[in-house]
Amino acid sequence: VRAAADRIVVCSGFTQALALLAGVLAARGGRTLAVEAYGHQHHRDVVASRGLAVRPVPVDRGGAVIAELGDASGVLLTPAHQFPLGVPLAALRRTQAVAWAAAAGATIIEDDYDGEFRYDRQAIGAMQALAPDSVVYAGTASKTLAPGLRLAWLVLPADLVEDVTAAKVLADRQTSSLDQLTFAELIRSGGYDRHVRRGRQAYRRRRERLVTALRQHAPGVALSGVAAGLHAVLDLPAGQQEADVIARAAARGLAIGGLGGYATPGARHAPALVVGFGTPPAHAVTTAIARLCAVLADEVGRVPVSD
Ligand SMILES: Cc1ncc(COP(=O)(O)O)c(C=O)c1O
Repeated sequence: VRAAADRIVVCSGFTQALALLAGVLAARGGRTLAVEAYGHQHHRDVVASRGLAVRPVPVDRGGAVIAELGDASGVLLTPAHQFPLGVPLAALRRTQAVAWAAAAGATIIEDDYDGEFRYDRQAIGAMQALAPDSVVYAGTASKTLAPGLRLAWLVLPADLVEDVTAAKVLADRQTSSLDQLTFAELIRSGGYDRHVRRGRQAYRRRRERLVTALRQHAPGVALSGVAAGLHAVLDLPAGQQEADVIARAAARGLAIGGLGGYATPGARHAPALVVGFGTPPAHAVTTAIARLCAVLADEVGRVPVSD
């Protein structure tokens, strides 16, 4: 990320950052924000609440299909690790997106919600560095520290700084100084870096345990997406219903979602689960994975593992 301090605005989570950006784009005459066809409904609601129409664009193995952005005023992307599908935005798509934004005078919002957690290689560089005048970079402490903290940061194109700062002041004047100073001290002391490294190792191990357990106990279920983040997408065998598996998991005390819960109207996908493996406390991970495998093994007609 290329960040001059006078282009950074600290917000109360990415949610507020998105609301401010959508409001600024709408106030400048923007009509439509393109979003990935799979993502948080809450984010789409936030965008719509600020007066922009939401236009879903398909996502394939190369990430969002940039050729479908059309005349949108901007696009919200998760380039490092598409949420929830788990694919990175392909290099060619990144350059296409930047070229599209430059030609259309559009804004790219780069939601880097879990870029700290890549397990199979070094993290991919932010798109923002390719085009600092078209791309808004958004980072958050929600995955690295805690979602309850409500701490996120925008690195803005120079042209947006004044309007977004004014919108932030109108919204709540500023994000808590105490929270910002505490976070700054954590970064300065090196403690944040150590914490993120430890987290990266711990979450990598959790993901590996999930992969190994699935291979052993539910081989019909494939994990898709790259080794990154705090969630995994589990592709169910054809014919399975997401809702059935989710209900059976719930009966065993597991809260998991289906891909359908993230889809925009009209988006079609094969049945899949979205499993967050960051949530259970360390002592509960083994049991949670065993229960999930038992549910999945049941579903594909195998002998369930005991928990
Ligand atoms: C796709 C995505 N973007 C952003 C965020 C962060 O949102 P916030 O900073 O409002 O907690 C999350 C969740 O942590 C997320 O899943």
